[in-house]
Amino acid sequence: MNSLANKRILLGITGGIAAYKSAELARLLGKAGADVRVVMTPAATQFITPLTLQALTGNRVHTELLDADAEAGMGHIELARWPDLVLIAPASADFLARVAAGQADDLLSTMLLATRAPIALAPAMNQAMWLNVATRDNLQSLAARGMHVFGPAEGEQACGDTGPGRMLEPHQLAEKASALFESGLLAGLRLVITAGPTREAIDPVRYISNHSSGKMGYALAAEAAAAGALVTLISGPVALPAPERVRRVDVVSARQMLDASLAVANDCDIFIGVAAVADYRPANVAEQKIKKHDDTLSLELVRNPDIISTIASLERRPFTVGFAAETEDVDANGAGKLQRKKLDLLFANHATSTFGSDAIAATALWSDGSTSLGPGNKALVARQMLALIHARYLHHVEPAVRT
Ligand code: C5P
Repeated sequence: MNSLANKRILLGITGGIAAYKSAELARLLGKAGADVRVVMTPAATQFITPLTLQALTGNRVHTELLDADAEAGMGHIELARWPDLVLIAPASADFLARVAAGQADDLLSTMLLATRAPIALAPAMNQAMWLNVATRDNLQSLAARGMHVFGPAEGEQACGDTGPGRMLEPHQLAEKASALFESGLLAGLRLVITAGPTREAIDPVRYISNHSSGKMGYALAAEAAAAGALVTLISGPVALPAPERVRRVDVVSARQMLDASLAVANDCDIFIGVAAVADYRPANVAEQKIKKHDDTLSLELVRNPDIISTIASLERRPFTVGFAAETEDVDANGAGKLQRKKLDLLFANHATSTFGSDAIAATALWSDGSTSLGPGNKALVARQMLALIHARYLHHVEPAVRT
């Protein structure tokens, strides 16, 4: 469990009898070198006292959303930004329902809405509640948003029932938390991501381009690297810093982006084309700045190569994922593109609400299925996209693995 050393873990405790085991969990995480802060729901404090957790972690325990003293120390937004991992143990049926609905009616649920850190849930409840379709639906939707679900185990329950719903033991939870840091979902996979716009020169001072900010591609690159992938980001001109642990290759034009993509395509497992590549470029680039003489000026444009189609048509092709920003008939146009460009997976979204924005909603389309993702900030939706890319990639390389 070396990978927990120096990690910041926000341990969320909700109201259930398994909360008594969270004290041992906090102790084990601390022993493994993690810095642990605890947030409890009001119901959790009925099962175990904040003082116990404070004594075990050495940190003040947070319980109230509107607590002037706590806000003066570490405010709730600061607290949401603090962790490397949020671990909710136990996660009660009620808490899962509130998170699934996106509620923020206490400090812990607010934290989950505000944080960008990965979230792991350790459900614990009576077996009938666990098996209830409402709980199953909530869990499925939380997992689809990229949250990790640890357990539950089967066995004897505090209420006398026997069945699924027991919280995993503290040492099992600590091991699973540790494993998240050891090898992310994409550990060792080689990803190439194109991002941003391209610029097509008209003369030495002018160009044709588009409004792409690069934010979606950069969010995917950052999240993929955090999930353990080896990421090459082939980027058009954008005003964004290179994400940590990502190799960035800067390009300007579509043809440069194609060359850079072909140079790495054979050595990659997954190719994701997020770039808004200019479809046309001026047929001739004027050597000198074009002077204004006439009232009108005509530019002859020629088609640029389609980068993602070229990659998807290679003999040894990577798993290829495209994006389609559409202004109308988003799903139908996306489905057409999936087929025409021979892609394995495509994310279709509405262009006007996406460009430059921090939020996104998308429809994921593949040959025999589809699902909707978001809306949410680009980092969160990037994690959902990567979870789906990973699942479809496994399906592709090992057809026996059903997802
Ligand atoms: O045809 P359209 O531009 O809508 O397709 C979008 C998808 O195709 C994106 O994945 C984009 O990165 C990719 N594309 C490309 N090369 C082009 C045009 C689009 O790789 N010339």
